[in-house]
Amino acid sequence: MLVPILTLLLVTSVFSSVDVRSRIDCYPDPDPSSNACSARGCIWEHAPEGSPTKTPYCYYPRERGYVLKSTAGQTYTLTPDSSTKNPFGTNIDNLPVTVKNNGKTLLVTIGGDDRYVPPVGLPMNPSTSSDSLTFKVTTVPSTNIFAFQVTRQSTGTNVWDTTIGGLLFAEKYIQIATYLPSANVFGFGDHVHKQLMRNLTRYTTWPMFAKGIAPDSESDLSTQNLYGVHPFYIAMEADGNSHGVFFLNSNAQEVTLGPAPHLVYRTIGGRLDMAFFPGPLPEQVVQQYLAHIGTPFLPAYWALGYQLSRWGYNSLDNMKAVISRVQAAGVPLDVPYADIDYMNAYKDFTEGDKWTGFPNYTDQLHQQGLHMIVIFDPAVEVDYDSFKRALQQNATFIEWPSADLVPHNIQDQYPMAKNTLVMLGNVWPERNTAFPDFLDPTNQTTQWWTNEFVLFHQTLKFDGIWIDMNEPSNFETGTYSSVGSNLATAHLSCPISGAAGQLDNPPYATRAVYDHSGEHLCSRTLCMLGKSARRTMNFFDTKSLYGWSESRATNAALRQMTGRRGAVISRSTFPSSGRYAGHWLGDNTARWEDLQTSVINVMDFNFFGIPYVGSDICGFHGNSSEELCLRWHQMGAFHSFSRDHNTKGTPAQDPAVWPSVAAAAKMVLTFRYYYLPYLYSLHYASSRYGGTVVRPVFFEFPKDSTTQKLDYQFMWGSGMMIAPVVDKGVSSVHVYFPKATWYSLIPINYGVVLTPGYLDVHAATDSLTPVFLRGGYILPRQGANTTTTASRKNDLEVIIGVDPSGGSNGELYYDAGDDLVDDIESHKRHHWLFSFTYTSTSAVFSGLCEKCSDVDIPPLSIIEALGYPATPDFNSFILNGNKVNINVQLSSYSAITKRLFINTPKLIGLRTIASPFTLKWNHSS
Ligand code: GLC
Repeated sequence: MLVPILTLLLVTSVFSSVDVRSRIDCYPDPDPSSNACSARGCIWEHAPEGSPTKTPYCYYPRERGYVLKSTAGQTYTLTPDSSTKNPFGTNIDNLPVTVKNNGKTLLVTIGGDDRYVPPVGLPMNPSTSSDSLTFKVTTVPSTNIFAFQVTRQSTGTNVWDTTIGGLLFAEKYIQIATYLPSANVFGFGDHVHKQLMRNLTRYTTWPMFAKGIAPDSESDLSTQNLYGVHPFYIAMEADGNSHGVFFLNSNAQEVTLGPAPHLVYRTIGGRLDMAFFPGPLPEQVVQQYLAHIGTPFLPAYWALGYQLSRWGYNSLDNMKAVISRVQAAGVPLDVPYADIDYMNAYKDFTEGDKWTGFPNYTDQLHQQGLHMIVIFDPAVEVDYDSFKRALQQNATFIEWPSADLVPHNIQDQYPMAKNTLVMLGNVWPERNTAFPDFLDPTNQTTQWWTNEFVLFHQTLKFDGIWIDMNEPSNFETGTYSSVGSNLATAHLSCPISGAAGQLDNPPYATRAVYDHSGEHLCSRTLCMLGKSARRTMNFFDTKSLYGWSESRATNAALRQMTGRRGAVISRSTFPSSGRYAGHWLGDNTARWEDLQTSVINVMDFNFFGIPYVGSDICGFHGNSSEELCLRWHQMGAFHSFSRDHNTKGTPAQDPAVWPSVAAAAKMVLTFRYYYLPYLYSLHYASSRYGGTVVRPVFFEFPKDSTTQKLDYQFMWGSGMMIAPVVDKGVSSVHVYFPKATWYSLIPINYGVVLTPGYLDVHAATDSLTPVFLRGGYILPRQGANTTTTASRKNDLEVIIGVDPSGGSNGELYYDAGDDLVDDIESHKRHHWLFSFTYTSTSAVFSGLCEKCSDVDIPPLSIIEALGYPATPDFNSFILNGNKVNINVQLSSYSAITKRLFINTPKLIGLRTIASPFTLKWNHSS
């Protein structure tokens, strides 16, 4: 043992010491040991007592990394420091670092043009900001090791500072580390986490590699990556300014968040393509990010209605019975779903025999103003018509790189697959399946996929598409065992050794693999050596883009199939998925913890540019309880994507199962439907300008540090705050009201002003979810009905939250609701900007039409104001200079509650009135 100890002493003594809070793990793979650590040229040192949890024992000396070789303008060329080892490969020499400004977005790329870049075609629109970020080259202290700082111009804060060391760049192991200006970090995904803010008091590694694994919200900490990959975070600096950073990379990757505070980002392919967004408001960070990656699609209006699904209806009759009882209970419902039960033996584009009459039923639902969404899995069985047409139409699938790797004893039993290189796997169908290559650059695969939808739609007139299992998930992927020749038991088997096994057995496989003992990158999916993008790329690089590429293809298919706008929802997502699809949070469980984490994850997905998102209400796995299902409805009614969904074999959990749940769902969904014009306007603005729909409270109150700790309260835009019950057995919520004027919208204390600070708010199971209007905002709404189709026929209204210190503003986007959007900017719509001001003697409500097209829009008939300070004279109303008769029977004012309610049918014809308009009236105190 003498020699290793000596080596260790030698190794440690020549290096400057590293603080226990800023170690960069030199042994992120399993089984670190002192010897193995020294062999990597790293320092082995136990963490003293009191050190942060998971402090690495084996860490890099700070003297390791790259040195600057030459500079040409904004391009720097680096060479590895002579003593630097990369434990997972050879550091690439002449490593280019290029810096560019794109508007106020700062782009830093490390790695050359010969490196793989995800083929996602981001729009990369330049951003705007009142602030800027600057890039400065420096060195790690007391060394000549290259480092850089990204600095906020207005304050001098370093938002990034890589003087922590640790830059490595080998073919399959790339690492960069940085100090962070604060521990207030939000984002990165797709993971469940119990606080909105990531915990940087300890070292935690979060893998990012799309995987079909159900979220585990029960454990205290589950770092498991879920279905999608989102290498984007927002950080708030100590002074309340926020910035964001995005890594464009689709390889298996991970981030370690640590206590310096710092982060270490690792990826096993591609390059470091980083975009820095200056904010300084958190909402602006998201807007800048979405300028870069693309703004979200606008869902059809009906897709904001309540949706009801389950796996295990088994027959059309069972589905009908459930839909009818929910309707009979008076619960608003827009979208019934059919899960894989409706298919014939789980084959896409087929209908099972217990589903005769499904097309007729869909037509009947349409007549009632409802819409239908059905599921499709990407993988198609290789022995039926859809696959046949794919081959005829020259679509491509994920393929083996060469014929010698194809398991012919299985493949050759399928006449259509026999002479192909198509990689066969297994999903729900009884026999082997092929995975369409949606990255096919020739578009023939998307064209075939579209054709399949168009063909199937001739029979079944569904309106939206649910795409699942697109990580992609494959059942029981084995590692190089003989697959035998029995079709019933044949599973995909991937080489993991030798030349063919290189991609499935890379030098570093990431925690996505190591956290599941016995797994490989190919576990639960296809072999990494698979070919995609018509054989031009490796599945190793593109795997996490599978759901993204299927979303893009399916969005195109939906357009062509119906010629109307609808919605696509996808399980797997990647940056810019929001342009094509929404997302449900996957296979959660009927537990309170899952209700809680879904509040957080929905905010995360709003950061990621996928605002059309929600959880399986009442929980997918397990048996839901009356109380949980009720509370979940009361919360889920405030998520854009609001759907109850359940797995097969468990008891029904539609709201009609329990009278109390039906009543609560009816109450909260009626409220939702009432305010849908507001929710829709938020989506419209997000499609147009980027930004969030559901957002954390701190987005609106960035200078109030208490708001950063609010995990379960959230906002709809700027004007409405929601504080749902997320715990069992309680009847109130401890709500934090930041400094503003807040009006209760809960029936029992409607219009009451809530004082800033913490307050316990009544939240019985038979009352409305605690929901509050913010003073200074005007929200549009429309009389609710049990479908959005019917609601849209009602007159429009506005509610004004009067701000005692100023005016109030709001906007309304209203369009046909389901016409195709080619260009959001020029899309036919009414876009009204409303404002309200008052003096001691009079008030003015005015509207300015930013764009008013030839589109139907109901009249504005109700103006309600909360916190209205004076008694109006109903005889004094003047609209655009002409007197209007206010219906005094329907209108009212209470000096006690300070609620003004003006109700006059067709008061303002939004379709016909000249813009701008003003409605003025007098009042007296
Ligand atoms: C997957 C989906 C789930 C669906 C099931 C059957 O588990 O995540 O929502 O019900 O497959 O299609």
